[in-house]
Amino acid sequence: MDLEHRIQDVQALSDKAVLLTNRDYLLNVHCAELKTDQRDVFEKARVYADTVYKLRAMGVVQYGVPIESKPGPTVTMEFFGEKRTMIMFASNDYLNLSTDPRVHEAIKKTLVEYGVGAGSSRVGTGYSYLHKDLEARLADAFGKEAALLFPTGFDAIASPQTALCTAKDRILVDGSSHACILEGAYSSGATVRVFAHNNPERLEDALRRSVEKLDGGGIMVMVEGAYSMDGDLARLPEITALCKKYGARLLVDEAHSVGVHGKFGHGSVEHFGLQKEVDIIAGTFSKSLGATGGFVAADKEVITYLNYMARKIVFSAALPPILVAGVKAALEIMETDSSLREKLWENVKHLEKGLREVGATILGTETASVPVLIGNDGVMFRFTQDLIKEGIFTFPVVYPTVPKGKSIFRLALQSKHSKDDLDHTIEVFGKLLRKYEIIPN
Ligand SMILES: Cc1ncc(COP(=O)(O)O)c(C=O)c1O
Repeated sequence: MDLEHRIQDVQALSDKAVLLTNRDYLLNVHCAELKTDQRDVFEKARVYADTVYKLRAMGVVQYGVPIESKPGPTVTMEFFGEKRTMIMFASNDYLNLSTDPRVHEAIKKTLVEYGVGAGSSRVGTGYSYLHKDLEARLADAFGKEAALLFPTGFDAIASPQTALCTAKDRILVDGSSHACILEGAYSSGATVRVFAHNNPERLEDALRRSVEKLDGGGIMVMVEGAYSMDGDLARLPEITALCKKYGARLLVDEAHSVGVHGKFGHGSVEHFGLQKEVDIIAGTFSKSLGATGGFVAADKEVITYLNYMARKIVFSAALPPILVAGVKAALEIMETDSSLREKLWENVKHLEKGLREVGATILGTETASVPVLIGNDGVMFRFTQDLIKEGIFTFPVVYPTVPKGKSIFRLALQSKHSKDDLDHTIEVFGKLLRKYEIIPN
């Protein structure tokens, strides 16, 4: 097939792998080049899968390799035909609470009493005293009047803007926003504008323009509390002040800051003491809280409205009671056992310092993920293969997730990473940064 002739080496394959993460490229360029007949809606899947299989056969794609052990700082995975122990830097289980025996005990007890599934959405059997209790705990913890549980973090963070905003409104989102923020914003029908990442001046420009253009609608601003790809915390003091000045409502997605920031681990809003100024605090249970599911905390009226209007609440099964119990136990540990957070930060600082000493450029240093700038998109997949050979698992972050020429490795730390594993990682990065001439030899 001509694709094989055109792709000469792993470098070209790597470029193809990068491009294929972009659906527009797949449909408009790749399928067109291969003269794909798209009258059958499945045809694009055949073309895509065919290319992925070729890339996999050459070891270019690591996505979708199953883990054969329980989650943790090291895991067992099969690469190059053999099982290997890999140091895991692609997990967001920052506090290792998914394997904490105290969480498991709570889940076991609830399993016997309540069974596995909720049986329906909360319109039916999906709302129990366990759900009610966790919602009250979350509202209290995040400094809001009420809270609502969602089946996933994605649902929790995509729902408020979809339910609250209409074609009359404008939604302003940070340029580094997660897909759930964008998906919710675009599906609301509101006009969506993206402002430069964590840049209050650009946000102010967007707010000013929005106020001029509005015709009877309102403005919602959406940011993340901590950006794990950029490594920075949202500039919430400036952002909240601007929202107030222009009469906009603000939602903060605390996915990567819960467990990591704030005195009791409640995230960036707690860190800055802005619980009253931020209108909606949303988050996920799938990262520091070690489970799955999400929540929104806000004024009572907003939560009541979402409880009736958010489609993911009404038409999707509620969180299983066992997870609700597990999240409650994890929340208590997160709030009372600060040693986990201290250990996590010790590891972050150790890795950052070591990587800088071997010449790496670290983007932001305010989150539990260390973003190491590589910049040269062309070497990313070969660099990844070398990391795998050295027992290090992380994802190459390439265009279109980050701008062209700004590729990074995102190293997400866990409380339980050992110093030995971090030192090995530092040494390997030093070696590979020189090998690929990212730093001078
Ligand atoms: C910033 C951010 N928000 C929301 C989510 C969605 O959370 P979940 O995976 O729990 O659905 C993620 C997950 O990757 C995230 O990184």
